Amino acid sequence: MLDEAFVGLPAPTTSPGVNATKQLELAGGAIVFHKPFSGVHVANAIAYGQTDETPPLHEAVSWRLAVALGPPWDEIVVPCVLREYAGEDGSLSLRAIGWPRDTAPTLNPTCCLPAAFFDSLIAQQDRHDGNWRWDGNQLTLIDHGYTFALPRAILNYSDFVAARHGHGAANLLTEERDALTRLLSDSDLLGMARFLLPDRAQALADRAQLMLQRGEVLRPGEF
Ligand SMILES: Nc1ncnc2c1ncn2[C@@H]1O[C@H](COP(=O)(O)OP(=O)(O)O)[C@@H](O)[C@H]1O
Ligand SMILES: [Mg+2]
Repeated sequence: MLDEAFVGLPAPTTSPGVNATKQLELAGGAIVFHKPFSGVHVANAIAYGQTDETPPLHEAVSWRLAVALGPPWDEIVVPCVLREYAGEDGSLSLRAIGWPRDTAPTLNPTCCLPAAFFDSLIAQQDRHDGNWRWDGNQLTLIDHGYTFALPRAILNYSDFVAARHGHGAANLLTEERDALTRLLSDSDLLGMARFLLPDRAQALADRAQLMLQRGEVLRPGEF
């Protein structure tokens, strides 16, 4: 995803107007989606407490955090890098397999618990059913533009966090406590503090700390 040449022309995406995401193909055959910094809908981003630059950055940092935390989180978050396409810097994410708008993974603890933990930790503001894919077996979370929210930022949707609380399953699992402890024991937050703006890195640490104190994932919109 970092080095392979692009082949052919961009294909349209389902939401051409919003943040100008382009579907592209790499020389090895992988289908990828490019979201340029220049395509950020600035008024929308500011309404979410983001900036003109944070959405593509937060797409890639979400994947780096999933990699740093390891399984099961790196198995449900879409791989994403920062890369230029046609002279535009942006985020490039790998096509997730499956279809949108299926609520099955919100009812399946194997998917819902790690997705809710991850969305709570990254302060995901926009986890509606168009922002995941389900193939009947595998969940993939996409669209991490509106994440790493600051305290009191607005929430649009938080379907997995709401489902986990709704099913009385908010208590942290052992591997979740271990992941938070690992994140907080590193002064650089496993590398994330170098990628995020300082106040957003601090907010990430504060959420991790609060989750450990309470022994629960945070409530929807609790950033
Ligand atoms: N990794 C991906 N896998 C599959 N489809 C994607 C992926 N990234 C983007 N898309 C497609 O592009 C659309 C817009 O991308 P998204 O990241 O959701 O941005 P936004 O909602 O801000 O426009 C998605 O609804 C989806 O149709
Ligand atoms: Mg989206």
